[in-house]
Amino acid sequence: MANVVIVGTQWGDEGKGKVVDLYAENADVVVRFQGGNNAGHTLVVKGEQTILHLIPSGILHDNKVCIIGNGVVVDPAVLLGEIDDLRARGLFPPNTRLLVSEKAHIIMPYHRRLDAARENRRGGKKIGTTGRGIGPAYEDKVARCGVRLIDLFDEGVLREKIAANLEEKNFLLTRYFGEEPVDAEEVFAEYREYGKRLKPFAADTSLALAREVRRGSRILFEGAQGSHLDVDHGTYPFVTSSNTVSANAACGAGIGPAAIHNVIGIVKAYTTRVGGGPFVTELTDAVGDHIQRVGREFGATTGRRRRCGWLDMVLVRHAIRVSGINALAITKLDVLTGLERLRICTAYENDQGERFTLAVPSQVEALAACRPVYEEIEGWTEDISQARRLEELPKNCRRYLELIANLADTELALVSVGAGRHETIVLRNPFSG
Ligand code: GDP
Ligand code: IMO
Ligand code: MG
Repeated sequence: MANVVIVGTQWGDEGKGKVVDLYAENADVVVRFQGGNNAGHTLVVKGEQTILHLIPSGILHDNKVCIIGNGVVVDPAVLLGEIDDLRARGLFPPNTRLLVSEKAHIIMPYHRRLDAARENRRGGKKIGTTGRGIGPAYEDKVARCGVRLIDLFDEGVLREKIAANLEEKNFLLTRYFGEEPVDAEEVFAEYREYGKRLKPFAADTSLALAREVRRGSRILFEGAQGSHLDVDHGTYPFVTSSNTVSANAACGAGIGPAAIHNVIGIVKAYTTRVGGGPFVTELTDAVGDHIQRVGREFGATTGRRRRCGWLDMVLVRHAIRVSGINALAITKLDVLTGLERLRICTAYENDQGERFTLAVPSQVEALAACRPVYEEIEGWTEDISQARRLEELPKNCRRYLELIANLADTELALVSVGAGRHETIVLRNPFSG
């Protein structure tokens, strides 16, 4: 029996939600450990689409424990909205429990205001954040002035923390950014109410997880974003404000690293990126438009058009290393159907004659100066969405998968050929061994 972490190997939106929803069938507990509602994880079950921003993607299944860990930043209005929406649609099974860490940091209105104000000020150098206040909320956590879920239940503490924070934030907003201040009493009244509604979900989730580990439960950790949006290991500064790598599953959930056994890296069969930052294999031509259209590459959170490009194995190798990934799940392979020739980037080169194969250059300027080195193979035209076994895929499609596994030197655990839960070729059960 093994516990499993799912992480994205690119810049997010690899299809983590779909894979977590599928794997959740065999899990007892599903845990989000970082990020916030900058994430948008899409599940398609019986033709019905659900987009989750905060609630773990195991929620649609009966009899699971879904945990939002201490490493997540929680916007209470978004979380409550998600709970209400799932309940209204009859999708929150009564015997599935949702627990939110009382230590999780809370996204406040001033975080969203600062996120937007900073982006405006950056002008042409925008990060292209989701505008959800993620960065400022993590800043406050590290600055030791953040509001945590447990603070919403204590009126005295909440009022004091909001007042202390607003003294500084309103100075910034009015004097530096030239904007309207945030009203402390309004924020207090709003967040006190959120506290009342969230109280039944609040728990010491580290303790709850420890009990599950002792009981031998199968635990699935659901990463958000992707390896190259990691604040340490990604394309800094065009990253998010948390560690997205697998090791943070331990820290962001409050368990020891020995409780993690398998790490599955989700690899979209091509590459996408929302927001700013270098993108070596980006396609700004008709092929890029084709992938964007067929893959319906619009942000699940902001609706922005995702930039598209060929699969980049330098990104994937780097991700495999920093997360200790031991198997890959390839998604959206069906989107490449019909393209005459496919390219896979095997290395980067620059004008100085340097070659990068295993690691993305650490400096974003150096990365922007890189050109892709491609290996080209023939595509396929047959519809693959009905395939449930590798043997049912066209020869060139299987060659494409073999090439990925060889270039990554990592085995494949799953191949996804459609958005639906079971439009999947399962090659290995991640919970066994
Ligand atoms: P996540 O953030 O990693 O969970 O990914 P998103 O949900 O933001 O984006 C992935 C999109 O691709 C969603 O619309 C999914 O429904 C869809 N999707 C996932 N797997 C497949 C697949 O194998 N084929 C196709 N065509 N769509 C997929
Ligand atoms: P999922 O979990 C894709 C990107 C933003 C921006 C950068 C910083 O659905 O894969 P932030 O709001 O986090 O400060 O924005 O990170 N970003 C994502 N891109 N998928 C996501 O999540 C993302 N979450 C953040 O577009 O470039
Ligand atoms: Mg997404």
